Amino acid sequence: MAQPTGFLSTTVGQKALMALSGLALVGFVIAHMLGNLQVFLGPEALNAYARSLRAVPALLWAARAVLLLSVVAHVSTAIRLVQRAAAARPQGYRQAHHAATTYAARTMKISGPLLALFIAYHLAHLTFPGVAMGGYIHSPTDVYANVVAGFSIPWVAGIYVVAQVLLALHLYHGIWSMLQSLGASHPRIVQPRRALAQGLALLVLAGNLSIPIGVQLGVVR
Ligand code: HEM
Repeated sequence: MAQPTGFLSTTVGQKALMALSGLALVGFVIAHMLGNLQVFLGPEALNAYARSLRAVPALLWAARAVLLLSVVAHVSTAIRLVQRAAAARPQGYRQAHHAATTYAARTMKISGPLLALFIAYHLAHLTFPGVAMGGYIHSPTDVYANVVAGFSIPWVAGIYVVAQVLLALHLYHGIWSMLQSLGASHPRIVQPRRALAQGLALLVLAGNLSIPIGVQLGVVR
């Protein structure tokens, strides 16, 4: 892949790219969750919503292109920033000292790749026609039936639950860092910034968890 030059090649530029691609991905995750929550309104509502997304193919593919570009920018910039940090301190610390950091921050390098694996599984599970990884018959038109049949299998629901916890940790630290990179770094707004990052992460966690758990409990069937 071509190496960025100019502002984008600096650490500040790389962090700005990380923040902007992250912002697009946060927007997608929230919109996707709000759309998916229509499962609680019944099959007509969710399937009509899914149909409306596909109504204008050019728009759908434009949105997919933006999403894919954001993922590529986010992942490649993350790799570059990790390599740069390792080059700046090739020896590592003799004793880990975590005074001013959080569990979510320390696990970004693990939650990121695991989320990429989850997304690959998720696409194979619910999107790619004829794959339906997780032992159910995939319908190209009945998204509601796919969700119910997909999440009726306990180990599949389990994968989603674990992935949503990872996503919440990643979102918490990601939103916190994104706001800092985009300029919201004044000490006076540290508290609201933390509250916003925690609030959004918890909201997405609750919304996304409610779907596999709702199917497992028989609330959605
Ligand atoms: C419990 C949580 C989730 C549920 C119930 C869910 C449900 C779905 C369903 C039903 C589809 C297929 C839609 C269709 O065929 O029209 C889909 C597609 C997709 N989901 Fe999810 N999803 C969840 C979480 C996530 C998360 C956390 C991410 C990313 C971080 C994600 C990324 C995607 C992507 C990229 C697609 C493909 C969209 C496209 O067609 O271009 N999903 N999801």
